[in-house]
Amino acid sequence: MRKPVIAGNWKMFKLIADAVETALELKPKVANANDREIVIAPVFTALRTVSDRVDGSNIRIAAQDCAVQNEFGAHTGEVSPDMLRDAGCTHVIIGHSERRQFYGETDSSVNKKTKAALSAGLVAIVCVGESLAEREAGNAETVVKSQLESGLSGLTVADMERIIIAYEPVWAIGTGKTATPEQAQDMHAAVRKTIAESHGSGVADKVRILYGGSVKPDNIVVLMSQPDVDGALVGGASLDAESFSRIVNFDRTS
Ligand code: PGA
Repeated sequence: MRKPVIAGNWKMFKLIADAVETALELKPKVANANDREIVIAPVFTALRTVSDRVDGSNIRIAAQDCAVQNEFGAHTGEVSPDMLRDAGCTHVIIGHSERRQFYGETDSSVNKKTKAALSAGLVAIVCVGESLAEREAGNAETVVKSQLESGLSGLTVADMERIIIAYEPVWAIGTGKTATPEQAQDMHAAVRKTIAESHGSGVADKVRILYGGSVKPDNIVVLMSQPDVDGALVGGASLDAESFSRIVNFDRTS
């Protein structure tokens, strides 16, 4: 049984005070959700403060990106995975489509960042997903497969224990368009198959695959009812503690 992961990607929203306020409001609302993992990803500048304020709770902290290097060095503007650990992170999101689309992230940098994150002991949430044009051309699975093969290249079976995959169709992010549960399930099954081919079926059975793209309190249950959907990476609906807590506390039987 794979433990669900519900992760909130706060993107470039919230000053430190707002981030703390949301995290503190969230804490009691999700305090009983112990059969799932809860992650929030504030901006870099809020990581230390937010992680201090949720310390001892069941909320884990992710960064939204990291450097490809883990050693100190002349890399102006970069933040290493060790530094993220130092700031209280346990997780890091890597290869989000906004970084791929607008900030030059490539499959090769995703692979390097993933290795750097693992070397620092972080869990890497590796994002993959096709654009609308790629889906319409019938290439969605090929694109995602190739992102996975490159992004996870060289990772050992042991490394894969600290990898979470987030499938986020680019056309569903921030658009209000969610993939249908069937589209999500089909792609998640394809992701698991790709990982079975690269790392064996034992790894594939265990790896958590999150869906991302316009996840809301009112569609989480149907998404989570798909056998290969193991959680969600939530953008917009994670910014509000009430709405994110309703996603975290989804009830499969409702
Ligand atoms: P969204 O964002 O939930 O606002 O669509 C998801 C994401 O970008 O991770």
